Amino acid sequence: MTKKLYIKTYGCQMNVYDSERMAEALDGYEQVNSPDGADMILLNTCHIREKAAEKIYSELGRYRGLKEANPDLKIGVAGCVAQAEGEEVMRRQPLVDIVVGPQSYHRLPELEAKAARGEKALDTDFPEEDKFEKLKTRPKAQRGPTAFLTVQEGCDKFCAFCVVPYTRGAEVSRPVARVLAEAEDLVSRGVREITLLGQNVNAYHGADGGETWGLARLIRRLAEIDELKRIRFTTSHPNDMEDDLITAHGDCEKLMPYLHLPVQSGSDRILKRMARKHTAAEYIRLIERIREARPDLLLSGDFIVGFPEETEEDFQATMALIEAVNYGQAYSFKYSSRPGTPAAERAEVDPEVAADRLQRLQALLTRQQKAAQDAMVGREIDVLFEKPGRLPGQMVGKSGYLHAVHVTGEVAVGQISRVRITESGPNSLGGTLL
Ligand code: 5AD
Ligand code: SF4
Repeated sequence: MTKKLYIKTYGCQMNVYDSERMAEALDGYEQVNSPDGADMILLNTCHIREKAAEKIYSELGRYRGLKEANPDLKIGVAGCVAQAEGEEVMRRQPLVDIVVGPQSYHRLPELEAKAARGEKALDTDFPEEDKFEKLKTRPKAQRGPTAFLTVQEGCDKFCAFCVVPYTRGAEVSRPVARVLAEAEDLVSRGVREITLLGQNVNAYHGADGGETWGLARLIRRLAEIDELKRIRFTTSHPNDMEDDLITAHGDCEKLMPYLHLPVQSGSDRILKRMARKHTAAEYIRLIERIREARPDLLLSGDFIVGFPEETEEDFQATMALIEAVNYGQAYSFKYSSRPGTPAAERAEVDPEVAADRLQRLQALLTRQQKAAQDAMVGREIDVLFEKPGRLPGQMVGKSGYLHAVHVTGEVAVGQISRVRITESGPNSLGGTLL
């Protein structure tokens, strides 16, 4: 009998991709949308901020009743909390049977077998072998029009606030041939847009025989796949934005005019303490160069407010950078101290001061975001349709700039159609098919 697997995914897009791969790797399970009645519950977790990690423990606590009702239920914790806390997860929450770090997913079937024998199963190694190569391949089922594809993992940047270099390990790029094969397979199953993923994806340096390919070369090669219509990539570090990748934004038509390029702060003093290894002016100059290549680029970023020792003056420098750059989209966070990172040793900003700064920063970013969205009204753009909308006869898709767009009319999922934008709502654009 097929068993039921419930996976709940937290955090970044890489976790979304990993969850898909784990679901495929677990033989004899079908994925379900609710933990009720499941034989296995897997939480794919995030450790980036304290709140994200604490959420996991409160979620686990909720499964007590399910485990009492079904003692055979196995509960697993995967992802970055598993990697960072290891055995501590089982000590804090004895309901947990399996703890598996992000680099050990190919060992999940063995861990599941061990748990089935009633033993606790833990694996947080950083093994030599390529987990994606060892993981069972995707079944040949048809897919939706958009997909993630992890090409690079880990990070060598060691920003002073960040757990990623510890939870995901050193930078590793998947070989070119494997990425191409996976992309071809996705496209043969209906995918029209691929987002290349990596913690530091623009540092991609994949092997192809004796050669090493950068991200731009990989993108150009993927663009040769006829039925693949759109390519995106995320997330990038400013210092790895090489000339070739900047040029690609101008001359590679399938590369979408959207770039997520986190800066974190606009104060050189704080950037230095964050170990970001660039200044605010260098970042702004870089944005100018990318916009020279692609003037309509929509820029997205990440910001941290209340980093240790941040003064009002430092914060104002961040606000000034935001004014100078003008973001179409952004994510912003209050600094959260992460055990084991260099910044965790430093004096923190008063939480109320940090909360106030976050509010002011988000007000500015929201204004810019709304202005960028409103500026779409009247334009004619291509939309890749993804699914039916909430209203009858409505279809929803994405613009190249990643705005959600809804229209009413006959258009198939996976189709790219020309749309004239007629309205800008709170979270999406409305338009008419041309
Ligand atoms: N506190 C707050 N935000 C953080 N980020 C990473 N680490 C922390 C932290 N300790 C944010 C950064 C990063 C995004 C993924 O999460 O802005 O770019
Ligand atoms: Fe973390 Fe990104 Fe810095 Fe790497 S580059 S340490 S993932 S914030």
